Amino acid sequence: MGIPMAVSTTLRRSRLSSHLLRRRLVSTSTFTFTMLIFLSCILILSFIVYMAVENAASRIRTLAGHNLEATPWHPFDIRERHLDASASRILRCSYLSCLGLSTAFTNSSFSSSSSASSPSLACPSFFRSIHHDLEPWRQSRISRSALDEARKHAAMRIVILGGTRIYVDLYYSCVQSRAMFTVWGLLQLLRTFPGKVADVDILFDCMDRPAIKRTVYNPAATGSPPPPLFRYCTTKDHFDIPFPDWSFWGWPEINIRPWDEQFKEIKHCSQSIPWKMRDATAYWKGNTDVQSPIRTELLNCNDTEQWKSQIMHQDWIQESKYGFQNSKLSQQCKHRYKIYAEGFAWSVSLKYILSCGSVPLIIDPQYEDFFSRGLIAAENYMPISSKSLCPSIKSVVDWGNKHPDKAEAIGKNGQKLMQELNMDRVYDYMFHLLAEYSKLQDFKPSPPASAREVCAHLVLCFADAKQRELLEKSSATLSSSPPCAFPPLKDE
Ligand SMILES: *[C@@H]1O[C@H](CO)[C@@H](O)[C@H](O)[C@H]1NC(C)=O
Ligand SMILES: *[C@@H]1O[C@H](CO)[C@@H](O)[C@H](O)[C@H]1NC(C)=O
Repeated sequence: MGIPMAVSTTLRRSRLSSHLLRRRLVSTSTFTFTMLIFLSCILILSFIVYMAVENAASRIRTLAGHNLEATPWHPFDIRERHLDASASRILRCSYLSCLGLSTAFTNSSFSSSSSASSPSLACPSFFRSIHHDLEPWRQSRISRSALDEARKHAAMRIVILGGTRIYVDLYYSCVQSRAMFTVWGLLQLLRTFPGKVADVDILFDCMDRPAIKRTVYNPAATGSPPPPLFRYCTTKDHFDIPFPDWSFWGWPEINIRPWDEQFKEIKHCSQSIPWKMRDATAYWKGNTDVQSPIRTELLNCNDTEQWKSQIMHQDWIQESKYGFQNSKLSQQCKHRYKIYAEGFAWSVSLKYILSCGSVPLIIDPQYEDFFSRGLIAAENYMPISSKSLCPSIKSVVDWGNKHPDKAEAIGKNGQKLMQELNMDRVYDYMFHLLAEYSKLQDFKPSPPASAREVCAHLVLCFADAKQRELLEKSSATLSSSPPCAFPPLKDE
């Protein structure tokens, strides 16, 4: 113990009072000067912090498209995205969203024992196309160097680990909200089959046209397998691997709802007009300004007397102004025949056309998407020759009107194909495609240093009001049954 308590307190008090006295003596001008210096320092400091934040935010590439250029192989105007580019939003959504949140439920409701008690459904037969799509890598397998080659054509790289985490490395912006909805679809796959989705490292291009030409990447000539690249479609002349497109979770820009809901609505409305009561002509409505020779040619068939066809132009900008009242898909099932014409590449409209229960008239398709391999001529659609387009349409319409029962059955089969392609099957397809792909990887996937983990909260954080509405509506729930039984390779 040093100085007694009372003495120490007195000392402190006296020091304090002399200090206060001195403070009061400080001249007002000196005080103002000090305050000014102090405020300036605060200002400069905030400016430095602000610049650092802006600088950090200006380097973060996001699923909404921040700080990304359009793909050089398919340029588009990136300003049309109307992004909220505030630094605080970018930082908040990038850093805070996934903290401590797991993407998937930690548990799976189907264990191997429970799945034995409920034998799983056989997958639709078009799932067999997965074997065909992955054939180029069956012998040589998928190497990291093949992925490096695929990267040159990709808008993003997606790594899935442990069936619960997704890492995305963004290279280019995808048009509209395709990237956001595609990654959302994968997050929902993890929710559907938690812990069960295979570890994969995939390169994805979200623009329309296939890029991996069979002539250029012919393994027999190059001595190495082609680069594996995922996209929404492929052709007979390409190695691109088709994957379900974004619109299964919704397409906010043109008011298309998540697939299960959209299908139910189209089917419901289609039932209000029995096939035989429908207009006995062929109908097409779509965008004619997409550099598609077929669609341009189709305009020549716009004559209900001569060609039994009605061809209507869809102006999406006009439609969006009027709240899409005239573009309701469910209002487009009033004709016995519905024409499908490819656009710039494959068209998302195929599934909506098939849903009507009208006879699908499909004009020589060049592109395939994952489910269009389930189409069988004269069973669930009628083929139309692009060579003599208008006469070809007319002859099928005439045939169908003479054989209404047969024609109606074809329309019904097309609708049935879509009914069977509900979201459960879409997730099954994704599940099996990734599982088969995973088996072919000759390395253990790990996220590149520049990749970021993406979780549902992060996607929702970047979404605008319309996008969020569709994303939330298309949220998946834990599957109560295992994926459908995948047909093995040698089972023809
Ligand atoms: C996880 O699984 C265990 C055992 O199968 C079960 O007891 C538990 O309730 C499950 N947890 C959740 C969150 O579903
Ligand atoms: C096709 O013909 C109809 C009726 O004559 C017309 O209303 C429509 O605008 C035409 N379609 C196009 C794309 O010009």
